[in-house]
Amino acid sequence: HLVLGTGTPPYLPESCRDLGGDFLHNSRYLQGRAELRKKRSITLVGSGQSAAEIYYDLLSEIDVHGYRLNWITRSARFFPLEYTKLTLEMTSPEYIDYFHALPEATRYRLEADQKGLFKGIDSELINDIFDLLYQKNLKGPVPTRLLANTALHSATYDSGSGSGSGTYTLGLRQEEQGQDFSLTTEGLVLATGYQYVTPAFLEPVRDRLRWDGQGRFDVARNYSIDTTGRGIFLQNAGAHTHSITSPDLGMGPYRNAYIIGELLGRAYYPVEKAIAFQEFAAPEGTVV
Ligand SMILES: NC(=O)c1ccc[n+]([C@@H]2O[C@H](COP(=O)([O-])OP(=O)(O)OC[C@H]3O[C@@H](n4cnc5c(N)ncnc54)[C@H](OP(=O)(O)O)[C@@H]3O)[C@@H](O)[C@H]2O)c1
Repeated sequence: HLVLGTGTPPYLPESCRDLGGDFLHNSRYLQGRAELRKKRSITLVGSGQSAAEIYYDLLSEIDVHGYRLNWITRSARFFPLEYTKLTLEMTSPEYIDYFHALPEATRYRLEADQKGLFKGIDSELINDIFDLLYQKNLKGPVPTRLLANTALHSATYDSGSGSGSGTYTLGLRQEEQGQDFSLTTEGLVLATGYQYVTPAFLEPVRDRLRWDGQGRFDVARNYSIDTTGRGIFLQNAGAHTHSITSPDLGMGPYRNAYIIGELLGRAYYPVEKAIAFQEFAAPEGTVV
């Protein structure tokens, strides 16, 4: 048996894959932070939780280090992660049952629509950022810009004299206005998150795996992805088959217990079958 829990590697936008210089992905922020704070300008791309935590950190010390700070998101707004209790019921065994039984096209539509349930920023942190901006602005204008609706389309790097003061030029577009503009910055942080990549080591067993119409794993309800239905299991990359429960860390023990039960052919750890108050599927027959 094989259980895949390889996770998601850092994701870089296409336009930044071969970019030179010392730009950082958010996964390396703490290692690069000291050098970054020496720059005269810093631009942060993305508006997930990682970006927000980095923005708050850089904004906190903007007056100590004297950099200009830009925060860019292609989303229409700096949206919060939804964390209300009836919505959290979607991280439940019943919701997996419901979601998994939906047609592939519906599941793919829902996966895109449910972004605010596992991406987005903690509401408290959004308010903390606003409050910090407000407090700092009481002493005078703060050299920071927050640009929503702004997509990154291109990026180039000019190393300058080579003395470490290189400059990035970003090609940006305000998507709702359809207006292009550019931005130059010395420091660049791509807080563009993580994306699943099929591990190359699976290539020799490719013909033993099940694939869906979009070329992603066809993950069975029991988390298996191979033609025997109990040989190879996928731990955490099935947002298209198991919904938001797939990347959810809180559901990790459930997934593990379920897969261990499948491996052994008997329940070893107890697995809950139903925890939600609400019903996700249409009731059978007439509701009275
Ligand atoms: N303290 C914590 O518990 C903590 C801290 C950090 C992260 N996390 C969790 O870890 C997971 C990953 O979070 P994350 O913030 O690293 O990543 P994320 O939520 O996936 O956010 C990535 C951001 O990058 C943007 N982006 C991606 N590709 C882009 C492109 N080509 N051009 C412009 N923008 C692009 C996305 O914009 P679009 O929305 O437009 O795609 C999004 O704003 C989340 O579930 C998060 O909640 C938790």
